[in-house]
Amino acid sequence: MKNNLLNLLFILLMSIGIMNAQQSQSGSFSAGKNEFVLNGKPFIIRAGELHYSRIPKQYWEHRIQMCKAMGMNTICIYLFWNFHEQQEGIFDFNGQKDVAEFVRLIQKNGMYCILRPGPYVCAEWDMGGLPWWLLKKKDLQVRRRSDQFFMDKVQIYLKEAGKQLAPLQIQNGGPIIMVQVENEYGTWGDDQKYMEIMRDGIRSAGFDKVQLLRCDWSSNFHRYKLDGAVNALNFGAGSNIDDQFRKFKEINPTSPLMCGEYWTGWFDQWGRPHETRDINSFIGSLKDMMDRKISFSLYMAHGGTSFGQWSGANAPAYAPTTSSYDYNAPIDESGNPTDKFYAIRDLLKNYLQEGEVLPKIPANPEKTITIPSIEFSKTANIFDNLPVGKQTENIQTMEFFNQGWGSIVYRKEIPACNHAQKLFIKDVHDWATVFINGIIVGKLDRRKGENTIELPAMNWKSRLDIFVEGMGRVNYGEAIIDRKGITDKVVLSDDKSETELKNWTVYNLPVDYEFQKKAKFNSKLANGPAWYKATFKLTQTGYTYLDMSSWGKGMVWVNGYNLGRFWKIGPTQTLCVPGCYLKKGINEILVLDVDKPSTTSIAGLDHAILDVIGKEDTKYQKTAKTLNLNGLNAVVAGAFSAESGWKLVDLPEISTGRYFCFEALNAQKENDNTTAVAEFEIIGEDGKAISSINWKVVYVDSEETEKAANGADKLFDIQESIIWQTKIGDKANHPHQVVIDMGSDVKVKGFRLLPRTDKNTKGMVKDYRFFLEKKAFKF
Ligand code: GLA
Repeated sequence: MKNNLLNLLFILLMSIGIMNAQQSQSGSFSAGKNEFVLNGKPFIIRAGELHYSRIPKQYWEHRIQMCKAMGMNTICIYLFWNFHEQQEGIFDFNGQKDVAEFVRLIQKNGMYCILRPGPYVCAEWDMGGLPWWLLKKKDLQVRRRSDQFFMDKVQIYLKEAGKQLAPLQIQNGGPIIMVQVENEYGTWGDDQKYMEIMRDGIRSAGFDKVQLLRCDWSSNFHRYKLDGAVNALNFGAGSNIDDQFRKFKEINPTSPLMCGEYWTGWFDQWGRPHETRDINSFIGSLKDMMDRKISFSLYMAHGGTSFGQWSGANAPAYAPTTSSYDYNAPIDESGNPTDKFYAIRDLLKNYLQEGEVLPKIPANPEKTITIPSIEFSKTANIFDNLPVGKQTENIQTMEFFNQGWGSIVYRKEIPACNHAQKLFIKDVHDWATVFINGIIVGKLDRRKGENTIELPAMNWKSRLDIFVEGMGRVNYGEAIIDRKGITDKVVLSDDKSETELKNWTVYNLPVDYEFQKKAKFNSKLANGPAWYKATFKLTQTGYTYLDMSSWGKGMVWVNGYNLGRFWKIGPTQTLCVPGCYLKKGINEILVLDVDKPSTTSIAGLDHAILDVIGKEDTKYQKTAKTLNLNGLNAVVAGAFSAESGWKLVDLPEISTGRYFCFEALNAQKENDNTTAVAEFEIIGEDGKAISSINWKVVYVDSEETEKAANGADKLFDIQESIIWQTKIGDKANHPHQVVIDMGSDVKVKGFRLLPRTDKNTKGMVKDYRFFLEKKAFKF
């Protein structure tokens, strides 16, 4: 009896002890008046964004420590819904997906965490983090209340997120100081109710005490209100900080100020120049923020790699993102500090909180190694290794066949025909090769809007194969409903008739290693899309960059790890292999080339090649003609004022047209022969910007597409920090003109133009003319 009592007393004392320990760890964080308050004291957030999915788990802690050494006190993370629920209803938070472990490592290293669970995250990640299987619903809508299916699935996901991470809110003793609701919703819509449902979903998933956050842009944060969430603004390197926060401060005079994403660099898109952001202008605006005690989060502190199929795409125009997510960030793809890293560390050491010291820069757990050229002698043709086919009357996309990613073959027999015919495919998502009896007759690239191939005369009935490779799903803007394969129909036509082709046999080729490894290899020459296999021996392991520059287009698996996509058009020519994917002794490498290699060997380099564009692909915009405006009248002409921010121009009356020409007649500064514009919107009859999803640049007299990605399509990419500018160093004088085809007639009330938003004022337009025509312009 006495013993029992003693035991009870002991248990009671222990539990009080544990409770105290927990209580002593729990803290508080909130958005106070003009400042953030952490455990009762003012706190300036210096956050760096890392994505646990883009960094092998073995290196999570190193990258967190690198951020701390760079001067960060907080790590900002997205939670990627589609990474955890790859099949409907099956959640996985283990191993590489153990995000709670990542958050605990942040805490272990004395840092705080901002969690951004979406559900939509953008992030150049397939479908912006939304699961592909949502697309099995034919009329799916996302980020809208009108689709109850979507809304219900979001709630289920948020609950799972809560189970993993709500115990790690600061109030529960964890490091999470803020949780973000959705992501840049102002660029998508203004439905306050939708945002309230998202907010309430996060709260009822268990994030019940933590400070909530939302982020938007200076131009659109006012489109909705969200009680209970502090509002951060996102903008890019070199921004004018006072301009960015001017309107925000007027509307929110006592809110603490934060840049939710200060873009350290930018992501790369296939076929376009490598993106970099100058260190000085980046540091300049960071210093401006520090001097004004403005909190920030560096997007990205370290980008890493979008391994496998995870990289996304932007649109319009469809522009898939490369697998390298180096981002020109301060910490490079393999975790090493760059000049930008040292510049940030140097700056921030002057702005530390009292008592804070910058730790030493931690050593990288991996060296970088080179691997001598690996020769491939074994091949397996895709057409010799097709899985069991499925029958379908109508063309269907991959999702219909329960396939998330990869390639798909559509096969059918077509009758003999003694003359050439046209094969029209609507729409190719994203890259197709067409074969007649196993021989290539053409290729179609969605980036270029290609949809028609000429078929030769055929003496006998023939086998038509359309091989379609899906690239990243659009992760930003309206085009996010982006099914893969052929999305609508295939039509065969000649001068007299048109036949929609039906009754296909379909073969699904997923990206899983399990599927690739089943291929039967031999020593035959590859013909069309094929796998290539080799082994290589290592005496030491480390990070290496596979030089893919002599290969066509496809994916690579090393020891079963899918490294991501390569494409000869660049700008990325290497694939990053983390040291932990390699082993001492024999390693296996498998390449799927859906195009054609010029040499079948691969060497491992000690550096990435991120900036080499394949020659044939830079010229898909039309600059090689001269616009003739003779005899046409501008519907409106005028002069813009010199200050920054959107400029709205009304036409004298509502006018109809399909093509418009914007003409810059001069610049705000004298002797400036350039033009630079960030965004251009056409305002429809209802006073709202019309969709630019089908817009095409017909003509531009000058654009920078080699030294930087500043082509004329940047006018309608809905990215305010990315501009169209005339070719750097171009001697040509004004006028500078751009002609856009909107795809069909539009009733136009006016237009809106956003000048460049950085501190640079070069190319800001003063006098302009605007033409609107029903018929195409003459050249
Ligand atoms: C926005 C998004 C991010 C990312 C960046 C560009 O700010 O919020 O997810 O897409 O753009 O890298």
